[in-house]
Amino acid sequence: MRDTLTLPRPDDWHLHLRDGDMLAAVLPYTTAHFGRAVVMPNLKPPVRTGSDAASYRQRILDARPEGTDFTPLMTLYLTEQTDPADVVAAHRDGIITGVKLYPAGATTNSDAGVKDIANVMHTLSAMAEAGVPLLVHGEVTDPAVDIFDREATFIEQVLIPLRTALPELRVVFEHLTTAEGVAYVLGCRDGRVAATITPHHLMINRNALFRGGIRPHYYCLPIAKRERHRRALVDAVTSGDVRFFLGTDSAPHLDPAKESDCGCAGIFNAPNAIACVAEVFEQADAMEHLAGFISINGPTFYGLPVSRKTITLVRRPSPPHPPVMVRGLPLRVFDPEVSLSWSVQP
Ligand code: NCD
Ligand code: ZN
Repeated sequence: MRDTLTLPRPDDWHLHLRDGDMLAAVLPYTTAHFGRAVVMPNLKPPVRTGSDAASYRQRILDARPEGTDFTPLMTLYLTEQTDPADVVAAHRDGIITGVKLYPAGATTNSDAGVKDIANVMHTLSAMAEAGVPLLVHGEVTDPAVDIFDREATFIEQVLIPLRTALPELRVVFEHLTTAEGVAYVLGCRDGRVAATITPHHLMINRNALFRGGIRPHYYCLPIAKRERHRRALVDAVTSGDVRFFLGTDSAPHLDPAKESDCGCAGIFNAPNAIACVAEVFEQADAMEHLAGFISINGPTFYGLPVSRKTITLVRRPSPPHPPVMVRGLPLRVFDPEVSLSWSVQP
C-alpha cells in the first residue's frame, strides 16, 4: 500500500469566497491546497461587469496570505441586462474565465439571475462565437417541480434546447448531482461539455439531511440526492473520464445562518475537500485517477496549463476540522461522518 502520493497542484473549478472579513477568513484554506479557483460571482450585489470582476479579483489578491501565489479565475453573473460586448472584452482581456448562469431564485443570491433563457440568447450566442464558457447552475426553479427532480428537468427543458440552438457554446454543468446529469455529460461527445462535482455530493446522500433529526449543515443546492445518484457520481469521477473535475462548491455561511428557521444553502468544505476526495478514490480503488479529477481534467478543459507545482498526500488520518471563527461566530467545516485516511502534507 502506498503511503505518499505526489500530484500536480490541484485547482478548484467552483468556489464561493464571498467578500470582506468572510473572504479573509476562508481564503487561506483554499490557498493552502489549490493553485487556482474559479470564483463564483453571487455576491450581494453580484459581479455583473468586467469592471466588477477586476475589482473583486484585486480584493481577493489583496486578501491572499503572505507568500502564496494563488490565482483567482473570475466569473460574471449573467443577467438579462448583461452586455455581450462587455463579456467578450472581459474574456479577451483575461479578466474572466467564464459566465455563470443562475436561474432566478435557484439558490443563494440568485434573485438577479435569468428568468427566461430567451432573454439572454444574444449574450450566449456572442459567448459561443468568442469561446467564453458558460457555467450553469442546472436546476429549474418552477416550484411545481419536486426539488429532487430539478436537475433532471433542467436538462430536458433548458440544456438540451440550448445546446441544440448553440452547439458551439462551451458548457460546464456545475455541481452535478444526478445519474441523469452524468448520463447527459457522457452523451456529449464534442468536447464542449464538462461537469464539476463536489466532495460532499460524492460522500453523502439525502439521508444525511435527516439522520436522527434535521441537519442543516448538510443542506446545499443542488440538494443531495438518493444513494443511486451518489454512486453514479462516484463511478463517473473514478472512471478517469476527462469530462469530470473537482469543483468544491465550498460555500461558507456562518452557523447561525444555517441553524435557523430558514437556513441558508451551502456547505463549507475548503479545509478538507482534498482529503474527502482522496477518501472517495481510495474506497473505489481508483487512486490512479485522482490526479485527473483534481489537477488535470479541469485545466485541460479550460485550455490552461496543468500546474508544474505539486502537492503531497500522506496516509495519515485527517482529524475532524474545528469550526473556523469569523466575526466571533463559528463556521462549521463539512463533516463527512467517516474517517479520512489521507492528509495534505503542509
Ligand atoms: C451556494 C452559496 O451559498 O453561494 N450555495 C450552495 O448551496 N451551493 C450557491 C450555489 O452554488 O448554488
Ligand atoms: Zn456554488
